[in-house]
Amino acid sequence: MIKPTCDDTILEKKRNLKNRYFSFTFKPFSLVKKCKPGHFVQLELPNTDIYFRRPFSIASVTSDGDIEIIFKIFGKGTALLAELAKGGTVNLLGPLGKSFTFPKKNEQTIIIAGGVGFPPLMYLAVEMIAKGYNPKSIHFFYGGRTTDDIIEKSRIKKLGVNFYPVTEDGSYGTKGLVTKPVEEFIQSSDSKMRIYSCGPTGMLKAADSLGLKYSVPGQLSLEAPMPCGVGICLGCVVEKNDGTHARVCCDGPIFEIGEIKL
Ligand SMILES: Cc1cc2nc3c(=O)[nH]c(=O)nc-3n(C[C@H](O)[C@H](O)[C@H](O)COP(=O)(O)OP(=O)(O)OC[C@H]3O[C@@H](n4cnc5c(N)ncnc54)[C@H](O)[C@@H]3O)c2cc1C
Ligand code: FES
Repeated sequence: MIKPTCDDTILEKKRNLKNRYFSFTFKPFSLVKKCKPGHFVQLELPNTDIYFRRPFSIASVTSDGDIEIIFKIFGKGTALLAELAKGGTVNLLGPLGKSFTFPKKNEQTIIIAGGVGFPPLMYLAVEMIAKGYNPKSIHFFYGGRTTDDIIEKSRIKKLGVNFYPVTEDGSYGTKGLVTKPVEEFIQSSDSKMRIYSCGPTGMLKAADSLGLKYSVPGQLSLEAPMPCGVGICLGCVVEKNDGTHARVCCDGPIFEIGEIKL
């Protein structure tokens, strides 16, 4: 884990995406060059009665010191965050946690994103392509309840990856649960594959089961309540399949398929 920093940053760019989603880009963040896909930051909510910082995956960074998060209004903290005006200051702690391990160059990458789980996976795809991976070796499955849950689709498509939107009501892409076309893809492929997934626990459980069923290795990004974010409070502990325990904030949030009791 990288020794994190705690910077006051300015909200430089604010985009109101659809369906209560927002993209916030902050600048400057001094450790931007240390950030990797899978890392997260914790934001202090200024001038509110909210004590605990809120954790968000890093969605993108630039070499100029920009750092982006994409979040959905969930409760009080994210609703207040969404009201922050451009030019406002926020204290940002990070980068936190472990990052994804990149796949081998001969592996097909299967990304399984659900709801607010897509930002770290979009960041992973961007960094993989920057490192010379063929975009066509990346299969980006993105599931949501309806078309409004599939965010930044043109941004993802522009990467040149294979994009497979899936909605439960069939309003966009394939109808059903995202893990069904993933399973069909795995069954139809003879290539070596690696899974990366982030999203609701039910989806992570299904992704974990698919990896174990078809012996496809991979990594899952988990969420948990995170009062401190740096391994001290034990508020984020989960049980592992070997009977031991792990802190999601610093032993994760990235874990291997089959590692955690989901
Ligand atoms: C590693 C990680 C990455 C995440 N990435 C994203 C992302 O990229 N985009 C996104 O939309 N969401 C992301 N989330 C989820 C996001 O952090 C929650 O939606 C947000 O914290 C909800 O806060 P709220 O105040 O709006 O909701 P509330 O309803 O007020 O909070 C939910 C409940 O959780 C408790 N709680 C909230 N935060 C904490 C905390 N830090 N410590 C202890 N208890 C807490 C509150 O007290 C409350 O009981 C991520 C979560 C984790 C753990
Ligand atoms: S959030 Fe405190 S130990 Fe993980």
